[in-house]
Amino acid sequence: MPLERTLSMIKPDAVGKQLIGTILQRFEQAGFTVVAAKLMQLTREQAEGFYAEHEGRDFYEPLIEFMTSGPTMALVLQGEDIIPAYRELIGKTDPTQAAAGTIRADFAESTRLNAVHGSDSPESAAREIAYFFVDDEICVKA
Ligand code: TYD
Ligand code: MG
Repeated sequence: MPLERTLSMIKPDAVGKQLIGTILQRFEQAGFTVVAAKLMQLTREQAEGFYAEHEGRDFYEPLIEFMTSGPTMALVLQGEDIIPAYRELIGKTDPTQAAAGTIRADFAESTRLNAVHGSDSPESAAREIAYFFVDDEICVKA
């Protein structure tokens, strides 16, 4: 299985509920390695660019409001086949549809306030990692 990387975010709802440590523990217990991390207050421009693929959807504006409402922790995680494995760990976008024991089932409040982000493909991961991190900020080489 390939060693790959994904872009994770602990979103403002989870940061505000003091869940950074709990969620990082889930990542580490799953065998994923944190290779970069930063706490950021996203600007509107950053949030809009990150979620540009959703521009025009009815949920876009409230999503941008939410993502700029407080600090977000962005992380690069590394592991074998991590892109699908991480999506499985976090669960479906809508927490009522997320499998029991997933991060979103346990900590998300709603489809919008859903605790965490994860890249959905290798192409998204490459774009999203480069969106928040420069090479020198990634501490373990692949
Ligand atoms: P999406 O990429 O579909 O979900 P995921 O985060 O699981 O990859 O959507 C991006 C974010 O947009 C999602 O995490 C929360 C928000 N969103 C809504 O608020 N309402 C919606 O109906 C959808 C589809 C997404
Ligand atoms: Mg997505």
